[in-house]
Amino acid sequence: MFVGQVSNNMKAIVVFESFWGNTAAIARVIAEGIGPGAYALTTSEATTEVIANADLIVAGAPLIAFSLPTDASRRNIAASSGLNAPTPDVSHPSMRMWLAGLAQTHARSAAFETRIWWSPGSAAATIGAGLMRAGCQQVCKPQRFIVTGKYGPLRAGEIERAHRWGAELAHSVERAPAVI
Ligand SMILES: Cc1cc2nc3c(=O)[nH]c(=O)nc-3n(C[C@H](O)[C@H](O)[C@H](O)COP(=O)(O)O)c2cc1C
Repeated sequence: MFVGQVSNNMKAIVVFESFWGNTAAIARVIAEGIGPGAYALTTSEATTEVIANADLIVAGAPLIAFSLPTDASRRNIAASSGLNAPTPDVSHPSMRMWLAGLAQTHARSAAFETRIWWSPGSAAATIGAGLMRAGCQQVCKPQRFIVTGKYGPLRAGEIERAHRWGAELAHSVERAPAVI
């Protein structure tokens, strides 16, 4: 293996909350960037069994009303469905609920959000704090991916940037695996 190459045998889970698909799209391309052992999963799919022994957990969600989606904001989104708004996917547990159920783990972690560039607030900081509570040390500071309108689309270049970020995360974990 030459210097800088990732061995690509790490197990990584990229778990996401996504109503209109922007965060899901970013999650999938982050997983591609990490490598073949990485999977982008909804909060329903990322069960305790599925994430067991993961080397890296990456978690992301949209910024909604200046915050990681709350039960109240999710209810409002569900109620807005069909009212001149694209149909949201509210079928999976919230990221807040997923984090609350996350068992203690030595996986390394990273957090991200999708959002409008100028907005105050952070979903990723709250996700990062939840990951830390479960014992997951973050390998880098939370990352933001930008949409150009209320429901998207992603700004040009964000997909490519997410792919590069995934590759960087893989390198970080390779260089400094968890000390158990
Ligand atoms: C009801 C609503 C509230 C939003 N609130 C914010 C906000 O406070 N700050 C922000 O930057 N973006 C906000 N957005 C934009 C979303 O964060 C953005 O569209 C995000 O990419 C959606 O992710 P998803 O497609 O994965 O659901 C809001 C969008 C909607 C529809």
